[in-house]
Amino acid sequence: MKLIEVENYEAMSKKAGEAVIEQVKQKPNSVLGLATGGTPTGMYRYLVQDYKKNQTSYHQVHSVNLDEYIGLAADSPQSYSRYMNENLFDHINIQKEQTHLPSAGASSDKTEGEKYENLIASLGGIDLQVLGIGENGHIGFNEPGTAFSSETGVVELTASTREANARYFNSIEDVPTHAISMGIATIMKSRQILLLVSGVKKANVLYKLLTGEINEQLPASILKKHKNVTLIADRDALSVVKEKEGSVSR
Ligand code: GLP
Repeated sequence: MKLIEVENYEAMSKKAGEAVIEQVKQKPNSVLGLATGGTPTGMYRYLVQDYKKNQTSYHQVHSVNLDEYIGLAADSPQSYSRYMNENLFDHINIQKEQTHLPSAGASSDKTEGEKYENLIASLGGIDLQVLGIGENGHIGFNEPGTAFSSETGVVELTASTREANARYFNSIEDVPTHAISMGIATIMKSRQILLLVSGVKKANVLYKLLTGEINEQLPASILKKHKNVTLIADRDALSVVKEKEGSVSR
């Protein structure tokens, strides 16, 4: 895992945005794996600003999102579909029909997951996957204990993830109990991965990731086995690592 240490959230967002722009310039028909949550919003802002200024074209790009809540309407304020439109797709020249999210209407059978796997394969796989990390080490919505071999499917959210995401809803009761998420094996097939980590809330999990073992109890730890992962972390996110080790471990 290559570590890029940055000062703050803004610097992380800029570095990540630059990497996405570079990817799209190198390969205009890139398949981008995209993430939601608080972490990548600054990166999306950077991409939108760059688009306005430099007209970087996304016309041939396809996007596949990591995950979606089950049971929310697509236009519900908390749906990841709406998040993607508002934060990125509405502001750049990506073709909406080339943007994909797993279906919020998925039932717990395997159909939707398989459909999404086939879609990714038919696009030729993911060139660059952007990832955040949950406070419990989840990637996408793959919670601790998920098999590293998992593929896209419906997952149950842990209480801690529902609590962490309750800030986007009126109350914790409104947070869906299930989501559909790209699997860990699916994420690992991406040719390149950008892992973004910012803020003190992520400092403990980042410490575990950088110093601990590869273990299904920490889903993100599998990323250490991937050949092309860049971790962009800010000073606050690295605070526990620094405190406990005096230096950054890669
Ligand atoms: C969410 C998403 C993840 C995201 C993570 C961290 O629940 N499903 O894809 O990376 O949790 O979210 P945030 O960036 O808001 O801290």
